[in-house]
Amino acid sequence: MVREEKIAPSILSADFARLGEEVAKVELAGADMIHFDVMDGHFVPNLSIGIPVMESLRKVTRLPLDAHLMIENPELYVDMFVKAGASSVSVHAEVCKDIAAMAKRLHDLGARASIGINPETDVQRVLPFAEHLDMILIMSVHPGFGGQQFIPEALEKLRIVRRELDRRGLKVDIEIDGGVKLSNIAEVKAAGANVFVSGSGIFGQGDYNTIMHKMRDLIARTPIKD
Ligand code: DX5
Ligand code: ZN
Repeated sequence: MVREEKIAPSILSADFARLGEEVAKVELAGADMIHFDVMDGHFVPNLSIGIPVMESLRKVTRLPLDAHLMIENPELYVDMFVKAGASSVSVHAEVCKDIAAMAKRLHDLGARASIGINPETDVQRVLPFAEHLDMILIMSVHPGFGGQQFIPEALEKLRIVRRELDRRGLKVDIEIDGGVKLSNIAEVKAAGANVFVSGSGIFGQGDYNTIMHKMRDLIARTPIKD
C-alpha cells in the first residue's frame, strides 16, 4: 500500500517570539503540514499553546495545521480547534471514550480524524477502529516535552500497525511523533511511518532547508522493510 510521505515540523521547538517567521521558513523548505502540540497540564505534565495561537497561524500559512491534542476531555475542545483552522485532529486513545463517535464528529466538522497512542498503550486500543480513521499517531516519546530520545520499541508498533492496515487494505496515514531526526528518519520510514513529525530535529538546527531536503531524500530512498 503506497502512502504519501509527509514531513510535519512540530512548532513546539520553534522560537515562539517569531512563530510566523519560523513557520514561513519551514513552509519554504517544503514542509507538508505544521504539527501543533496542545498540552493541558493534566494529560501531560506541561502546558503549551491553544486556540488563539492556532487562529493566528491559520492566517499566515497555507499549510494544513495538524492539531495534536494532549488533553483530557478532548470532546469539549475539538470543535474549537477545527473552527480555529485545524485540518487534522489527533485525540489520544487513552482519554477518548468512543473512538468511532469522535471520528464521525471530526468528519462532520470537516477535519481529518486521527487517534494517538502513548508509548505504553497497546496498538490494539486503536486498530479495531482503523476503518473510521484517516491517521494513527504513534508516540515515540512520553508526550509532554520536545527534545526527548526516540523510544526504539515504537518501531515494532509501526510495523504491526502498517502490516495490519495493509492486510485490511486501509490507506490510513501512520504518523510517528517524538525524537525523530535526520539520524533515525530512515529507520522510522523502513518500519512503515509515512507522516514524520520532527520538532527539535528541525527548529533551532540552522538551515531548515538543508535539513528537510536531507530528510526527504532519506525517506524517498528507504524502502519499507518487512
Ligand atoms: C511531544 C510532542 C511532540 C514533540 C516532538 O509531547 O507531541 O510533537 O514536539 O518534538 P521532538 O521532535 O523534539 O521530539
Ligand atoms: Zn505531537
